[in-house]
Formats: sequence, C-alpha cells, structure tokens
Amino acid sequence: MCGIIGYIGNKEAFPILINGLKRLEYRGYDSSGVALLQNNESIIYKKKGKVSDLENFIADSDVSGNIGIGHTRWATHGEPNDVNAHPHTSLNGHFTLIHNGIIENYGRLKDVLVSVGYTFKGETDTEVLVNLIEYIYMRGNVNAELAVHYALAKVIGAYGLVVLCKNEPDQLIAARKGSPLVIGIGEGEHFIASDATPIVEHTNSVIYLNNDNVAIIKKNELTLKTTDNDELTPNIQKLNLGIGEIEKNGYAHFMLKEIFEQPRSIKDTCRGRISLEEKSIRLGGLHAVMPKLIDAKRIIIVGCGTSWHAGLVGEYLIEDFARIPVEVEYSSEFRYRKPVLNDTDVVIAISQSGETADTLAAIELARSAGATVIGISNVVGSSIPRETNAGVYTHAGPEIGVASTKAFTTQITVLSMIAIELGMKRGTLTPKESNGLMEELILIPEKLERIIKMNDSFEKIAALYKNANNFLYLGRGYFFPVALEGALKLKEISYIHAEGYPAAEMKHGPIALIDENMPVVVIAAKDNSYEKIVSNIQEIKARKGIVIAIVTEGDTVIREMADHVLEIPKADFALAPILAVVPLQLLSYHIAVMRGCNIDQPRNLAKSVTVE
Ligand code: G6P
Repeated sequence: MCGIIGYIGNKEAFPILINGLKRLEYRGYDSSGVALLQNNESIIYKKKGKVSDLENFIADSDVSGNIGIGHTRWATHGEPNDVNAHPHTSLNGHFTLIHNGIIENYGRLKDVLVSVGYTFKGETDTEVLVNLIEYIYMRGNVNAELAVHYALAKVIGAYGLVVLCKNEPDQLIAARKGSPLVIGIGEGEHFIASDATPIVEHTNSVIYLNNDNVAIIKKNELTLKTTDNDELTPNIQKLNLGIGEIEKNGYAHFMLKEIFEQPRSIKDTCRGRISLEEKSIRLGGLHAVMPKLIDAKRIIIVGCGTSWHAGLVGEYLIEDFARIPVEVEYSSEFRYRKPVLNDTDVVIAISQSGETADTLAAIELARSAGATVIGISNVVGSSIPRETNAGVYTHAGPEIGVASTKAFTTQITVLSMIAIELGMKRGTLTPKESNGLMEELILIPEKLERIIKMNDSFEKIAALYKNANNFLYLGRGYFFPVALEGALKLKEISYIHAEGYPAAEMKHGPIALIDENMPVVVIAAKDNSYEKIVSNIQEIKARKGIVIAIVTEGDTVIREMADHVLEIPKADFALAPILAVVPLQLLSYHIAVMRGCNIDQPRNLAKSVTVE
C-alpha cells in the first residue's frame, strides 16, 4: 500500500527520495510523487503510474534541495491520477503533506473548510487534512508544529504522515496513528519512511514511532512528543536487516528469489527453537503465555489472504497434535461480527507484514474481550508484535514480492512448532510421536531443496497451460488449504481465474465446469485420505479434465491416471503442506512470466494492506 520516504540533511534529497520510492514499490501503488524545498518554496512533482514514469516526467527539472518528501499512493479516495497523487499542498502553499491511511471524517472537515473559502483540486482525504493544517496555522497564528497538533486532534481515522512547511524550512513534522513510520538517524541527517527498506542503505539506527507520536525532525535534532504535546525519550534501535536481503541478487524477480530462499528461511525459523538432544521445542516469545495456551478452551486463528490459509493448516495441526478446538476466521469478518470470546480463549493473529489493518482490529477486539492474543509475524518491530501479549517471529527475512511465498511456509513452520510443543506439554502426543515430528521438521529444508531443483519440470507444465482461462485446485485434509493457496497464487500474479476446493466438494458444484479445457491441480500426496483423492482424480478423468497431480515420490497409481505428475519427497503428511505448496508457487510463477505479467507488483494488489 502507500509508501512514505522523507529526507533532511546536507545531501541532495532527490536521489535519496527517488531511490527510496523504488524500494517502496513492492508495497503496491498506482502513482507517486516528490516535494522538495527550494528557496523556501515547496516544488512538487507527481505522476500516475510507476516511479519510472515520475522519473521521466521530472527528467529535465530542477530537483535540487536538501529537504524533501516522497510518496507512492495506492488509491482509496479518488481515482489514481496525477491530481490525487501525493504530495498535496494547501491552498495558500504553506504546507505540503504525504499521508498513509484514511481520514474517516474528511467529508465533515471538508464542508467546514469549503464554508471558509477553501477549494479542492482532487478527491482525496489527504488534501482535506493539509488544508485543515493550513487553516489552523493561519487562523490561529500558531507555528507549524502546533497547527499539526491541533489539526490531528480534529481527525478521526488512521495516519502515518509527513508535513513540510515552507515557512519553517529546517524541519519535517511526522505523526503516526495506525500507519507505521520509522525514522533513520544518520550523521547530520534524518530519514523517515513507512518501513525500513528505503532506510537500510543509509543507516541502521532507527526509531519506530508509536501510535499518537509526533516527531519534529531537523538535520541535527530530533524531538519526539505525544499528540498531547508531552515530550518523550526516543528509543533508538539497531536494524537487523542487510541491503542484500532487499535486492534481487541476480534473480529475475523477488518472487522467484523468495521461493528459492525457502529452505534457508525455514532453517532460520527453526534455528535455536528445536532441540533434538533435549527433545524439546522452545519458543521464547510464548513462554509467558504457555500456561494459558496449555489450558486454552479454544484457539481462534485470525488472518487475511495467505496468512489465513496458513491459519487453516494451523487448525489441522493444533487439533491433531494438541487436541484443542480451533476456529479460523478472516480478520475482517471476525472484527465486525460479535464473536463470543472469554478469558480462556487464545487468539493467534497471523500476519507477514504485521501491519494488516483488519488483523490489527481483530487483535484489539480480542484483547478487549479478555482473550490472550499471540502474534505470528515476519516483520520485527511492526504493529502486530507490539500490540499482542506474546508472539513468534517467522524470521523468513524481508518478503518483497507481493504474492506471499516464504512467509506462508515459515508461518506453517511456526504453527507446527506451536502444535508439537502443545502436544508434548498436554500429553496428547507420545514422546515417540513428538520426536518423530521434530526430526521430520528438521529435514524439511533439505526436501525443499530437492523440489526447487525440479524447477524446469514446473516450467514445462506452465508452458502447456499458460493460456488456460480457468484452473481448479483440489486437496483434502492438510492439502485443502494448500489447494486454496495454490489457486490464490495463480490468481494474484497471472490473473487467471482459479478456485481452490476440498476435493470431495467437487461433486457439489465445480464438477460442472470440468471438460477437456479445464486444468485441475490435485494435491494428492500420500496421506490418510489418499484412496479418496485417487477416486476424485478418476471422476475428473471421466469428464476429460486435465489432471496435474502433486504426488509423493514413487507413486505409481496416480502416474497411470494423471496427465502430469509432480513429485514431492516423502514426509509426515501433517508437515507436507510446506513441501506441496512449492510446486504450486513455481507453476504460478512460470505461467505469469509467460503471460508477461508484472510478477512482483501485480495489478491492484498491495503487499501490506493498511486500510480496511
Ligand atoms: C495482502 C498481500 C497478501 C497477504 C495479505 C495479508 O493481500 O498481498 O500476500 O497474504 O495481504 O497480509 P499479512 O501481511 O497480514 O500477512
């Protein structure tokens, strides 16, 4: 979603801003812009389309200046066009603003401003806010900082914002409520951004803003306050992120790099957490809530998109190993119904980014109802880990491709560890069973390496079906969520319509779609319902459907029936979703490449969805 970058210091701001915008492209956006302070005037360039369109548009312009802000916009209020792109400037030109989030009461604020003579160029809520700041500044005869404070007191909604005032050209003012912001501290310079990716190449000293923080950022000075104007002591942290982690390192796309990274990321997720000698799993972040988890009457898993799919696998794992009832809900549904919750419930919120607005709202609801809330997130310092009672980081490393891959497999890895640990502590797994599962988990990275080596075979199948209009994905048990995730991957990046279904449900509807043009991907690795899925394959073949089957290596039965088989190594079937999803990721990837799609930034999608 929207991205923010700002700079104040002695260097030329523009190269830092434009490079920062490129680093933020992965979040998903439809327009971009920059504002630079030149001779006490704010100069704005903005353009619909990619950052490269903005660069071309500015090519012959004067982009000098040591203070500036830049933004990538993902449209919410008003269509994506040059006018609605950020930065926005106020009517009399005193203020320039970039903003992530949504000002919910912007309509009422706009009416007030119109009644005192303000006019608007576009349809955004941000343009309303920048004019409100200016109105207060001029009318109240206050300085820029106070004008921002007073304006924010009138705002209902969420924001991460940075303000430039041309009359006070030695500072940037930033504020956060709901939408993340991080300040980078350099030598005689400061950076501000919506996440650390544009900052990491400049400094690794950062301050994460908390909700209701306002920062007054000067070249050599930084003041942190609450929105009530009380001064705070900044908590400077070290970024644990290398520049190599946010670059493609020779891969054609981030998505491919991230698929290939999965053996390593799963090792990192397990590192120091599984001890085969001590026959134990140690998830330090859950230590304090372990008694609650062990005695939980019910676990509710919430998440969105791919994280919700991981939650479904978690349901199977926890019920299987720990025998605790589990429900899995879309965060967006959970937050708006009236879920029955009490203090014996544990809610597990799963989110790669740690910033998804619906999941954050679900957490708030669960907490206020007295439930224990655990976060599973990939981004250290993001909002979800900060808002939960306890949690586990996935340690997948930065995921830049919009279509989630390594986050999914590491989320399942964490859920497996939680389920095994609970199974041991509740006595629902025998020592033999838990040891066997831990040994299996340790072997997963090496098995993934073997799957990745078969990349060429996935590419060959992709070439055969790249022009299909529809795909069906079927699986049973643990492989049903994998079918959903496979279909989602294909939709997201190739724009081919795809549906995931529990295989047995096929005959209640989707079977009507099957003919000789319908590729059906069946996840048919060996598990306790193997015979059933073999029957499902026969039902598809009887209707001339094309079967692409994911099978356990050595399977001869399905090889006879299916049009194509893709083998995955043998594994305990509870852990096999981590393996089975990888051929599906690669199949989607190759199809999308062959269709000429934008792999890492698919149309309309955002990496982290910070609005509802
Ligand atoms: C967006 C992303 C998906 C992701 C979902 C949930 O839709 O494009 O890849 O699964 O958000 O994001 P989260 O960061 O909460 O896992």
